[in-house]
Amino acid sequence: MTNTTSQDRQHGEEQTFEPSAEFAAQANATAALYDEAAADRLGFWAEQARELISWDTDFTDTLDWSDPPFARWFVGGKLNVAYNCVDRHVEAGHGDRVAIHFEGEPGDTRTITYADLQREVSRAANALAALGVVQGDRVAIYLPMIPEAVISMLACARLGAAHSVVFGGFSSDALRSRILDVQAKVVITADGGYRRGKPSALKPAVDEALAGGDTPVEKVLVVERTGEDVAFDAERDLHWAEALAAQPDTHEYESFDSENPLFVLYTSGTTGKPKGILHTSGGYITQNAFAMRTVFDIKPETDVFWCTADVGWVTGHSYVAYGPLAAGATQVMYEGTPDTPHRGRWWEIVAKHGVTILYAAPTAIRTAMKWGDEIPAEHDLSSLRLLGSVGEPINPEAWMWYRRVIGGDRCPIVDTWWQTETGAHMIAPLPGVIATKPGSSQRALPGISVAVVDDTGEPVERNVAGYLVITEPWPAMLRGIYGDPERFKDTYWSRFENMYFAGDGARYDDDGDIWFLGRVDDVMNVSGHRLSTAEIESALVSHEAVAEAAVVGAQDETSGQAVVAFVILRGGEEQTEGTVEELRAHVGREIGPIAKPKRVHIVEELPKTRSGKIMRRLLKDVADNRLVGDATTLADSSVMDVISASVAGEK
Ligand code: WT7
Repeated sequence: MTNTTSQDRQHGEEQTFEPSAEFAAQANATAALYDEAAADRLGFWAEQARELISWDTDFTDTLDWSDPPFARWFVGGKLNVAYNCVDRHVEAGHGDRVAIHFEGEPGDTRTITYADLQREVSRAANALAALGVVQGDRVAIYLPMIPEAVISMLACARLGAAHSVVFGGFSSDALRSRILDVQAKVVITADGGYRRGKPSALKPAVDEALAGGDTPVEKVLVVERTGEDVAFDAERDLHWAEALAAQPDTHEYESFDSENPLFVLYTSGTTGKPKGILHTSGGYITQNAFAMRTVFDIKPETDVFWCTADVGWVTGHSYVAYGPLAAGATQVMYEGTPDTPHRGRWWEIVAKHGVTILYAAPTAIRTAMKWGDEIPAEHDLSSLRLLGSVGEPINPEAWMWYRRVIGGDRCPIVDTWWQTETGAHMIAPLPGVIATKPGSSQRALPGISVAVVDDTGEPVERNVAGYLVITEPWPAMLRGIYGDPERFKDTYWSRFENMYFAGDGARYDDDGDIWFLGRVDDVMNVSGHRLSTAEIESALVSHEAVAEAAVVGAQDETSGQAVVAFVILRGGEEQTEGTVEELRAHVGREIGPIAKPKRVHIVEELPKTRSGKIMRRLLKDVADNRLVGDATTLADSSVMDVISASVAGEK
């Protein structure tokens, strides 16, 4: 880590935007929340839990931290998360309120009220129960962005079974390894979904993942979405619509312990094997309901909320499936890509439904910016009142564009920093309370304690880069890595004593606001999605033509980072015209299209230290078109000259 240069500070860092008097006057959040939480952090969270969540049995202790890093929140409390997201709103008289405005990519739409959702979730829970799913089981969900994804998740929650959603863009191999790791009993999938104007099949990947019959999966529920022909195993597969139609639309829920597992979501780490991040019930739903109220300023009677993330990522878990529904809000769910059938699709949807709160990733904002101001200008975006950003640092230019062109200079922007592991927002400005600052996530939310520290764990001075740590347990924190308590301790709790190591570089500015500087480990962030260099390297070396591979995240104007691979072919393998494309396709098959390297450089050697460790830092210099840094610790210092020359020769 190095000191920051003036370059980091030139982008209008001193500029801040006060909330309008109008926004501030109606904001849910108040400055007093910071003081209350600072005075009594646990008391503060206990109050949030009791105010925002319906408990069937009240908790006796707020936090049990007697065996760190294994936390238990709201000890002794019992609740049903699905009841909290659905039934209680119907009981409160809001059954007719729209829960989900669904927009299919081809233009089909569905309107699902809370009463509809209650019936659908009940039927789905009954159907899963009929298949033998009980509390403590795991169910894999591999679906497109259709309401059945949310219904499936809630049906699992209703039964106390944990779901493990696998992003529909992941390959059959990736699906299979997750099914095996989590030991899923049932898979819920669809024939396919719509992507870029065409049906894109999902069911064949499930068949492939389960071929051989060596997984614990007993049944597969198949939603009909595209109507395309798919293979059907009469013993194993069931039609979702038939299975649900056979069930009553009411279901008596049970209440489960606050620490009952809610879901396992896989995310990339620094090794080749994805980590199954485990989240439980009471703390997760409390902190997300809190984020909805304060960070998103949600007014369930009037707001139309739209989080554009896929349910395959944590953002879709917390801010499509659970947060908005726990709040009793109306939300938009969109199946497809922003440019199908035209580049104004998102803005058309905002205008159509009168979206008031929009939550998107910087990569999408930069792409829209590239497409030009005239496209959003064709649509009425005046319903918007608050904008959110998530997934990676947002550059001040994109922030300013978002504010001006999408937000009409009137909407506060909340740049929310968090992770799959944190489960809910951790660092973000409270809208209406804090003057926002382009490019900075600013400060920890009330009840959350973070610091930026140096190598020794001491807080850094202002404008000095360090590591972001979380210094106190928080309600929505991960409870572990599924089946691997040692890896949980090693990955997050061993770098600094008694602190959670997030893996992000950060610094404070002169106002004490936090700026994120990207990952400090071998994790890349491509379009707001986390990818591991090791995972892509192991996919590459699994190809018969490849001897060795090194992967780095290069700077990319649109996606933040882009995957760049350096590959040594096996002896006897000749590079042909098709080699690079074949290797890209191979990674697509092994992991999924999102992991495909943008560039593959075939090289003779890789830069290694005397102990054999690949120095990715030097390859990153090449990929970023920079002068190659200090190469003196290489076993053979001439290697970088050869690589640079060969990469330059390709251009
Ligand atoms: C990593 C977590 C949590 C939602 C989506 C990604 C980066 C996330 C921000 C932000 C700067 C951010 C971090 C973090 N990140 N949000 N607002 N500013 N960086 O979840 O896949 O678990 O990735 O995304 O590097 O560690 P994830």
